[in-house]
Amino acid sequence: MYRTHHCNELRKTDIGREVKLAGWVAVRRDHGGVIFIDLRDREGLTQVVFRPEENAEVAKQSHALRMEDVIQVYGKVAPRLPGTENPKLPTGDIEVLPQSLTILNRAENLPFQIDAELSNEDLELTYRYFDLRRPRLSRNLQIRHRVTQATRQYLDSQGFLEIETPILSKSTPEGARDFLVPSRLLPGKFYALPQAPQQYKQLLMVAGIEKYFQIAKAFRDEDLRADRQPEFTQIDIEASFVMPNDIYTLTEGMLAAIFKAARGIEIPLPFPRLTYREAVNTFGSDKPDRRFGMRLVDLGEVFRSSQFKVFQGALAEGGVVKAINAENFAGITIGQVDELTAIAKTFGAKGLAFIKVENGEWKSPIVKFFSEAEKEALHSKLEIAEGDCIFFAAGKWEIACEVLGRIRLRVAEIQKLTAGSTDLDFLWVTDFPLMQWSAEENKWNAVHHPFTRPKAEDLPLLDQKKFGEMRADAYDVVLNGVEIGGGSVRIHEPELQAKMFGALGVNPEEQQAKFGHLLRAFRLGAPPHGGIALGLDRLVMLICGENTIREVMAFPKNNRGQELMTHSPAEVDPRQLRELGIKLSGEKK
Ligand code: AMO
Ligand code: AMP
Repeated sequence: MYRTHHCNELRKTDIGREVKLAGWVAVRRDHGGVIFIDLRDREGLTQVVFRPEENAEVAKQSHALRMEDVIQVYGKVAPRLPGTENPKLPTGDIEVLPQSLTILNRAENLPFQIDAELSNEDLELTYRYFDLRRPRLSRNLQIRHRVTQATRQYLDSQGFLEIETPILSKSTPEGARDFLVPSRLLPGKFYALPQAPQQYKQLLMVAGIEKYFQIAKAFRDEDLRADRQPEFTQIDIEASFVMPNDIYTLTEGMLAAIFKAARGIEIPLPFPRLTYREAVNTFGSDKPDRRFGMRLVDLGEVFRSSQFKVFQGALAEGGVVKAINAENFAGITIGQVDELTAIAKTFGAKGLAFIKVENGEWKSPIVKFFSEAEKEALHSKLEIAEGDCIFFAAGKWEIACEVLGRIRLRVAEIQKLTAGSTDLDFLWVTDFPLMQWSAEENKWNAVHHPFTRPKAEDLPLLDQKKFGEMRADAYDVVLNGVEIGGGSVRIHEPELQAKMFGALGVNPEEQQAKFGHLLRAFRLGAPPHGGIALGLDRLVMLICGENTIREVMAFPKNNRGQELMTHSPAEVDPRQLRELGIKLSGEKK
């Protein structure tokens, strides 16, 4: 037997016991010939003390120990000397006095110190197996495990069947590029890795499964960010004979079970709901963080006939004028003004007008254009007070809202408005637009995906080709400003699906080639159905209080999509390429 206890197990009541422990040397201190070791395993730390007067030979042996050596000790549990107890450690009342020490393996030339904060992410990822020994990362993986177990239990209790779907599959558009896998048996043909199990889960509904779920891997070749990886995990759900409310209730119940299991807390149900239109209009985002205010205020009525042409002109062209009040931000620096103006320009504004309220005075190059009535109206609508800073955006509704939404988030970040907050702000955003015009591609694209059902009352707009006005039975679940899940009720009628493909510029031949299986399946009695997928990594990131999903994945990729430990992607043997009938063009980046 290697051990009788783990390193977070021994307490006062164990004093006098003979125990065996095994683990890693986390800390080694030499106090005048007495060697103190913090022995670490997955569960925690236990202090082991080698005193020459207790056992001279073992104490001598302990002088050779180095950090991260793997050892086993056999010894007696003893009380710590009075005054040296460590109340921060669950095992802080005791220590182990060894009668024997076995070095199971040595660790040499550590790439970095486990207990030090490190910012060299490439180095951490190269030695990820070492990095994962950090207690924080180990805890994150344990929480992730709790979350998936709670998910399975909950969905099982609701009658959902866990079913695997293929990884080597055919392209399902979710708005990203596909990862392709060449076929050896059918040269010139490619599998696509699933961007989501979307079509398979819908086909399982046609198959009569009724309630499906899967903790599914999804693959998307897109630009990577803190909350985006090229492969990630979804809690993927689909059910037959459901309306949006059924999915909301199910998801809320599941999230409640998850938070209970992982954090021991009850989250208030049901979650509030905002339509997409309300969310964007009030917070400038379809995934609003409502833990702080700074709501967007509409000033259309105030400036309709203003002398200030920037505002009056935007309104005359059918646009909007909106503003946010950043309290206690009048001390904004010139650098911050430049940064916020650059953000506004990135998202399509020509400028970012603002007013600082300092010493009872409104400081701004634009105030001189405002009438007394306009100032009065601004004052009351924005509840302007000493120390405030007001930011304005004038232009098209979409652009003005997005610009102020971004400014709002950045100001909140600068002011650390959510730092240390334990609030959990859940909400549903509903009634997303069905389609979005892409000027780049000169066509309509699906906002969610092409299988999403238009809202019944907006169906007539499809034949009238008023695609931009159509709303979908699509919804996102948002937590603290992060989109943790999204789904929709689906189209289950072949005619409507074909019409939808048509609106998205997929001609009948392409429809058959790409989606013939789905259209055929819908002709064999497809039940009404709908579902959702939650981003497991994002959810666990928020539960763990982390800022990136990399911290909750065992082996993530860096922001160039590389897995640095095994060096993937990598070049392959020319023979493998020959077998696949692939020739490289010789171009390399
Ligand atoms: P969607 O594309 O919204 O929906 O994805 C569902 C959820 O997955 C998470 N997510 C990601 N997480 C990490 N890295 C990524 N690159 C990434 N992309 C998405 C988000 C998102 O809310 N098939 C539909 C679901 C459905 O309609 O049922 C789908 O995949 O948290
Ligand atoms: P201008 O008259 O173009 O010099 O603009 C006067 C002020 O309004 C400047 O501070 C600009 O940054 C700002 N501004 C210009 N266009 C917009 C806009 N669309 N929304 C908000 N502020 C703007």
